[in-house]
Amino acid sequence: MTSPTNQELITRWRHEPAPLLPLLHAFHDRDGYLSDEALGAVALGLKVPIAELFGDVTFYHHFNRDPTRTNALRICTGPICRRYGAMELLAAFEQDGATPMPCAGRCDDPIPVLQHGQALAGTSPDTLEARRSPLPPPNPAEHEECVFSAIREPGRSKLEGYRRTGGYEALTRAVTDMQPAEVVHLVAENGLAGRGGAGFPTGVKWKAVAEAAARPKTIVCNADEGEPGCFKDRAILDHDPHAVIEGMALAAYATGATRGFIYLRYEYPDTFHVLEHAIHEAEEAGLLGGSILGTDFAFQLYLRRGAGAYICGEETSLLNSLEGKHPFPRNRPPYPVTHGYENLPTVVNNVETLAAAAQIIRRGGKWYGSLGLNGQAGTKIISLSGDIRHPGNYEVPMGLPLKTLLYNWAGGPLPGRQIRAVTMAGLSGGFLAGDGLDVTLDEPSIRAKGSFLGAGGVMVFDDSRDMVAVAHDAMEFFAHESCGKCFPCRIGTQRLTERLAGEAGPTDLTAWLDEVNDLGQTMKAVSACGLGLAAPLITGSLMRYFPDRVAQHVQTMANARAREVQP
Ligand SMILES: Cc1cc2nc3c(=O)[nH]c(=O)nc-3n(C[C@H](O)[C@H](O)[C@H](O)COP(=O)(O)O)c2cc1C
Ligand code: SF4
Repeated sequence: MTSPTNQELITRWRHEPAPLLPLLHAFHDRDGYLSDEALGAVALGLKVPIAELFGDVTFYHHFNRDPTRTNALRICTGPICRRYGAMELLAAFEQDGATPMPCAGRCDDPIPVLQHGQALAGTSPDTLEARRSPLPPPNPAEHEECVFSAIREPGRSKLEGYRRTGGYEALTRAVTDMQPAEVVHLVAENGLAGRGGAGFPTGVKWKAVAEAAARPKTIVCNADEGEPGCFKDRAILDHDPHAVIEGMALAAYATGATRGFIYLRYEYPDTFHVLEHAIHEAEEAGLLGGSILGTDFAFQLYLRRGAGAYICGEETSLLNSLEGKHPFPRNRPPYPVTHGYENLPTVVNNVETLAAAAQIIRRGGKWYGSLGLNGQAGTKIISLSGDIRHPGNYEVPMGLPLKTLLYNWAGGPLPGRQIRAVTMAGLSGGFLAGDGLDVTLDEPSIRAKGSFLGAGGVMVFDDSRDMVAVAHDAMEFFAHESCGKCFPCRIGTQRLTERLAGEAGPTDLTAWLDEVNDLGQTMKAVSACGLGLAAPLITGSLMRYFPDRVAQHVQTMANARAREVQP
């Protein structure tokens, strides 16, 4: 088969919604890199100033501009993959041009490696192979699941299997028997809150978009999942893609939206094909497109790939990315519910939120709200990884003690080891350790310890781990991914990384603590988005739970400096 010409690619994408990223991907897939000629053609075809286009392309980590590196590997060097030998794997392929990739969302089955759009996994050069992502392990407790309640059913990822196990019943009931406001009410009264990190009440968000006057309205599924230690969205999309499509269609019906996008992180190429197929199946069956299920409800769904930038998971950055603008987060207000995609009313929801909404509407009543413990509503998927016997995605009732998950569900630490610390919200919630581990898995309990549950990534570090080194790697990630829009975040994450590396900063402990605190406070006070607010939780929790190790770190630095100045 001959490769498409530049003009054929431009013609294919020019009039599609949100065309910039798919067009860049089309050139990149064809050539293995983005040449000057390709960028010139894209700039001309989409009428984008060439300087702006260069700025965008070089912002995303995935786009290669070097023709000699078209087959070079990208190797995940996230916190968990490092434990499985990621740095050694990188070194083995370094002479072939391999580069590190921030956590690629496969912490339960490492090490993910990308090569020219293909996903491989393995812990050594000999074991690299294409592998399906694992199903969630069996739920070891009696607690009822919501999102995972049918995910392990054979054939669930295909339309036939999905329908056989109750799929699209909720959509059918909604469009034939329910008013849009009833759908919003059902989601609101069950207490569903956003599962992408911020925990905003989903019913409130849907109501605001339903009441907004401007049109057309849009539903965006945030499948960017860039938070290190989070891999739940991947599991849902790989094994239950129709649940998310159904959730999006329900959100569209409830709010009056007519178009939708799934924004999928680039690092999930297999998931892209699963979704492509599922969307096609749903269109063919009259569950997407015009006249859905024979009614006058219409909803067109598009699939778009990101290009490797953690900040694109932040909802306004994601919207800019979709629109082909530089993916800086937007200043808020106004919020996406009134000024979202193309400045029009938009729901942005996480994959897990949308999959839960489909179940809630199918079950009706106050079923979901009653699944939590101690007055907490619903369930949460926790992506558990690291130094633990049984890593994986666990759907827990909100309010479950963290230690029950760690020790009873997931088997506790590895033989002969003790759990030293865990991260919360992937990396964004910093560390919990010592008495900090005595929390229940819900926002009020975890926030009382100065952290937050967020998207539900929990990485476990045992007593063989050096927490200053772990904190350094975490801060290096934030420094790498800071979009640079706000000075305190851009510089603050770098200064904190240097201090954790022992490369710079005071050698007196009190001065070191003051400076690190001061940097963190400044970032928290003035950062425009959650990245700059979250990064100081790493240093804050390190100083709180590991004061002796911090003192030792500063002393080691002081000793090294003293040796440097000796004649
Ligand atoms: C730096 C940053 C990265 C984020 N990454 C994601 C992400 O990958 N997926 C996601 O759903 N939400 C992410 N969020 C949260 C989104 O901005 C937004 O709150 C969420 O998509 C809304 O959906 P929900 O209400 O269903 O949670 C991120 C936020 C920040 C500040
Ligand atoms: S806080 Fe950091 S990541 Fe967020 S907008 Fe500012 S510079 Fe960008």
